[in-house]
Amino acid sequence: MYLDNAATTYPKPDSVYERVLHTMREVGGSPGRGGHRRSLEGGRLLFQAREAVADFFAISDSSRVLFTHNATEALNVALHGVLVPGDHVITTSMEHNSLLRPLNSLAATGVEVTIVPAAANGVVSVEDIRRALRPQTRMIAVSHVSNVCGAIQPLAELAEVSRAAGTFFLVDGAQSAGYLPLDVTRLGIDLLAVPGHKGLLGPVGTGFLYVAPSVSLRPLLQGGTGTNSTELNQPLVMPDGFEAGTHNLPGIVGLQAGLDFILNRGITALHDHKQALLCQAQQALSRIPGVTIHGPADPAERCAVLSFSVAGVDGSRLATELDQDYDIAVRAGLHCAPLAHGTLGTFPAGTLRISPGWSTTGEEIAFFSDAVVQCLAKF
Ligand code: ALA
Repeated sequence: MYLDNAATTYPKPDSVYERVLHTMREVGGSPGRGGHRRSLEGGRLLFQAREAVADFFAISDSSRVLFTHNATEALNVALHGVLVPGDHVITTSMEHNSLLRPLNSLAATGVEVTIVPAAANGVVSVEDIRRALRPQTRMIAVSHVSNVCGAIQPLAELAEVSRAAGTFFLVDGAQSAGYLPLDVTRLGIDLLAVPGHKGLLGPVGTGFLYVAPSVSLRPLLQGGTGTNSTELNQPLVMPDGFEAGTHNLPGIVGLQAGLDFILNRGITALHDHKQALLCQAQQALSRIPGVTIHGPADPAERCAVLSFSVAGVDGSRLATELDQDYDIAVRAGLHCAPLAHGTLGTFPAGTLRISPGWSTTGEEIAFFSDAVVQCLAKF
């Protein structure tokens, strides 16, 4: 039983596997790297996938969607590509290391970083973010949903603070894309970093960064783009100049199949299904003596994951028992987000996190909670 969809979703819909295999076996060519039919077909598929991503997130110009290999790469392009020494960035204590580490590295070059602590339930105060603004603030960077406790941040209000202050608004959609509707245009998001292999149900090795027309970006990588080949400087044309090197076309086509699956099922129906499973797990776990659920108490303020700890019990040991004795995959520890655990009061031990997927059933959640009880009885 796989309850670690926040790390990467598994299984993928059959159509994702089929499109990946078909692209590898039957298409084969590299987009923009030749005038032959296989390359042209690859280019057509790449364009269709880019358009599909743009439609899904209400992005009006698909050329501003830059394919990356994961959300971490997208965040690095956004941060290193925009910020310069003297800039000030506001972020929160709920961020993943994929955002905190590039920021920390930029801090060494003279970028100033303010980390606003969230409340003990993982939700950040809009007022605290507003208070952290300075004249030099160039960016507000937040994750939409915490990968540790599922806390949903008040994105629309934060976007409004950013818009009013004239700063760039960077959203890490790692745990929300494919879970919650994300309308880039309506929210006024300037930079959106998304993995393809989580809520969007695509293969690993996929992701993207959306870059609003108002943002001028420096590329992180230089290399072949299939265009402007006489020019030794990296072209700054979007998207080519920011996708140096051969694309992961099978993965990107698979990502489009994931989007199609979500659109067919309906993002709300899929969300409701996973929310119901999380509520079922929460109720069952809350009945176990010593269990604490972390994050917002109201399930409506949480999505994608449920984090818990058991007094006096090593979460990693419990996770190992669940894996080895019951074949249940969960993730224990700090989830690459040490400051979030500090905020929740679960540092350094961490928590045990479950994250059901589109194919998880209520029977599986019942089996999981029974297994927790049985494991604890043995400790
Ligand atoms: N960020 C991913 C997780 O939370 C890998 O598990």
